[in-house]
Amino acid sequence: MTIPPSLPSTLFSELKTKIEEQRARVGVIGLGYVGLPLALLYSEQRFPVTGFDIDQHKVSTLQAAGSYIFRIPPTEIHSARAHGFSATTDYSHLGDMDAIIICVPTPLNEYHDPDLSYITNTAKAVAPHLRAGHLVILESTTYPGTTEEVLLPILEKENKRMLTVSRGSSTDQQHFFVAFSPEREDPGNQSVARRDIPKVVGGLDSKASDLAAALYGSIFNRIVRVSSPAAAEMTKLLENIYRCVNIALVNELKLLSLRMGIDIWEVIAAAATKPFGFQPFYPGPGLGGHCIPVDPFYLSWKAREWDFRTRFIELAGEINTRMPYHVLEFVAKALNQQKKALNGAKVLVLGVAYKKDIDDLRESPSLTIIELLQNEGAQVSYNDPYFPTVGKGRKYDLQMKCTPLENLDQYDCVLIVTDHSDYDYERIVRESQLVVDTRNATRGISSPKIVRC
Ligand SMILES: NC(=O)c1ccc[n+]([C@@H]2O[C@H](COP(=O)([O-])OP(=O)(O)OC[C@H]3O[C@@H](n4cnc5c(N)ncnc54)[C@H](O)[C@@H]3O)[C@@H](O)[C@H]2O)c1
Repeated sequence: MTIPPSLPSTLFSELKTKIEEQRARVGVIGLGYVGLPLALLYSEQRFPVTGFDIDQHKVSTLQAAGSYIFRIPPTEIHSARAHGFSATTDYSHLGDMDAIIICVPTPLNEYHDPDLSYITNTAKAVAPHLRAGHLVILESTTYPGTTEEVLLPILEKENKRMLTVSRGSSTDQQHFFVAFSPEREDPGNQSVARRDIPKVVGGLDSKASDLAAALYGSIFNRIVRVSSPAAAEMTKLLENIYRCVNIALVNELKLLSLRMGIDIWEVIAAAATKPFGFQPFYPGPGLGGHCIPVDPFYLSWKAREWDFRTRFIELAGEINTRMPYHVLEFVAKALNQQKKALNGAKVLVLGVAYKKDIDDLRESPSLTIIELLQNEGAQVSYNDPYFPTVGKGRKYDLQMKCTPLENLDQYDCVLIVTDHSDYDYERIVRESQLVVDTRNATRGISSPKIVRC
């Protein structure tokens, strides 16, 4: 419901006007792969934008007009800085903002349960600076109920002005507004402009939805309003579970096709010609990235509260998690064909990023595959144009340096895990003794040296 213009000015209508006139001060918390591009989009539209992060290195880099994300050139930061964009670790500036968008991580903990500590820590840091009329939007992917059951109680309990969230109240003087809006970015995908990706918004009441829709409406072409934050949270999970389950399906069919001597890639290409009812998904060496391997388990965890088992998610997780082990078996088998053992073999892994043409290592199957190969005694090197080194992460500690793509015949096996566009696959096949290809990157090249798995 939109407030009719005849009503007296309220904090709601003041903020709405500020947003429409692009004067609203936007604070983005968490300047990672999601938050930084979002902050830059608002800055491009000449909104006054401040980015908040606990990582001093990121803040200093941005303040010096530098970038730490490969696909965001420093020129973009420079231009945003010229238009007033700044970054800080100091939450006290939040009081100066009109809208606060939270883009912090939502990983799984060691027991594979949701780790909401980033959201709760952020909520605790935001609360003391909250004032009436503030709009707070959560963008982090999470289970349905997080905004209302986790974020909101902290904001209400720990703010200093006894403010409560707006729930359709007629006056705004003691209220702030809360919404959830999932991020739908697809890193590396150049086919859809960010602006053209419809933005789903679910406010806690219609005022919050109106404000969030107005705010996103200034940078996205289409806003899709849903009835609640929980519906918006569930929408994001449905999208990612859909991908996770379909990738698992095609991974399983690939394993069967390999046994049957059928080329699954040929089959998918043929099936994809059907003009309705089929969307192609592609097999690979295992899931990667911050989203698809992680998000479905947020829902599985929440489902337990309702005495419900999400069997599709569990089965898909089981199949997808096995894929790096399948790659290991195939490398061993391919070497065996050449009368070589995996133990002691020199293996060059091409690509450590979790997907092609991006600089993101999170949950990358390459890291698992490298560890599995090392555990079997292989001497593993890697090459990735996006990563000069691979150090220590949450689940790995590899301490490796990128090897130049030279003297490929010194390796017993070259293993393609990430099909970066920069690679010259003809040359790689020509110069290598054996190529194991997990991505069909060598399609169209015919050679007995290639083993597709
Ligand atoms: N990366 C993607 O493609 C993508 C796509 C859709 C949704 N998401 C979701 O968006 C959220 C953010 O993901 P991301 O990829 O940007 O993560 P990221 O790790 O790249 O960035 C998160 C940032 O938040 C900062 N941070 C952590 N705690 C903080 C705090 N208390 N205060 C301020 N800053 C803090 C970190 O330092 C980091 O810079 C996650 O929930 C993720 O699932 C990510």
